[in-house]
Amino acid sequence: KIPLLIDTDPGVDDALALLMAFNDPRHEVVGLTIAAGNVGLKHTVANALKLCEVAGIEAPVFAGCPGPLLHPAPDAGYVHGEDGFGDVGYEAAQRAAEREHAAQAILRLSHEHAGKLLLVALGPLTNVALALKLDPTLPERVARIVVMGGAVTGHGNITPAAEFNVYFDPEAAHIVFEAFPQIDLADWEGTIAHGLLHDHVVEWLAADSPRARFYERISKKTREWSADRRGDYWHSADALAMAYALEPDGATELVDRPVVVELGHGHARGMTVVDWNRQNGLPDRFRILMRYDQARFEGLIRAALAAG
Ligand code: BDR
Ligand code: CA
Repeated sequence: KIPLLIDTDPGVDDALALLMAFNDPRHEVVGLTIAAGNVGLKHTVANALKLCEVAGIEAPVFAGCPGPLLHPAPDAGYVHGEDGFGDVGYEAAQRAAEREHAAQAILRLSHEHAGKLLLVALGPLTNVALALKLDPTLPERVARIVVMGGAVTGHGNITPAAEFNVYFDPEAAHIVFEAFPQIDLADWEGTIAHGLLHDHVVEWLAADSPRARFYERISKKTREWSADRRGDYWHSADALAMAYALEPDGATELVDRPVVVELGHGHARGMTVVDWNRQNGLPDRFRILMRYDQARFEGLIRAALAAG
């Protein structure tokens, strides 16, 4: 099995992505390293532990950095609920997080699975950036990194220019983007191109499984928020990134380009600047997901919810 390490800030769409990973027979989740982002670290850690409990998954959970490397940023509790899981008042998980810090766990697991590790980052990149600062040789041991982040033609979701994960910690994104020789990028605009009909989602959530029942509850608020603003389709950024990670051959259009992060403090802070016309002479280190087989994507979600 391919060892899979997920850095995540659950978060409703993170939770769906995690269920997809838990359900994949070709990957083994070797750890969840937890970032602050959608909501504070206390909640994202508690949410990860609870989701594992509901799904019957024993993967270790490691708490990471409580906020961005340099500049504080606002969270996304207004989308995911103040607790990140729709404020349903679930009972806390029995299990606690491990003692090891997420950044150290990333490094240790990269040694244990050197050359084989699939690293999927679904939140702000703070923990991965810190791991790189502790040990810049990390990329040598990672077989593949998939990042959910950015808005490749500048249609952001948190500001007009920036996508949430990159905007929350642009310095961390910069460190990660510079360090890895190749990054598979699933961005926000790709997410928008792969909407899920609310009516279908409701059908999948009616599956007779603890995973579907729990997910139905925690996603209700954000589905309603999204239906109010974006109409018939729901958009699950981290789920699409996970589909690309788990079944890369489902991608039907990929584009290789250089990408840099804007670190200034003006309107474009956190923007992912893609060199579409290759004007800067930088290498094409990013493989950007433009299109993914929609039926395959939906099939992975449906199966993930029905499992367990
Ligand atoms: C990303 O930001 C978060 O709100 C989601 O969990 C996803 O990772 C989308 O911009
Ligand atoms: Ca996320």
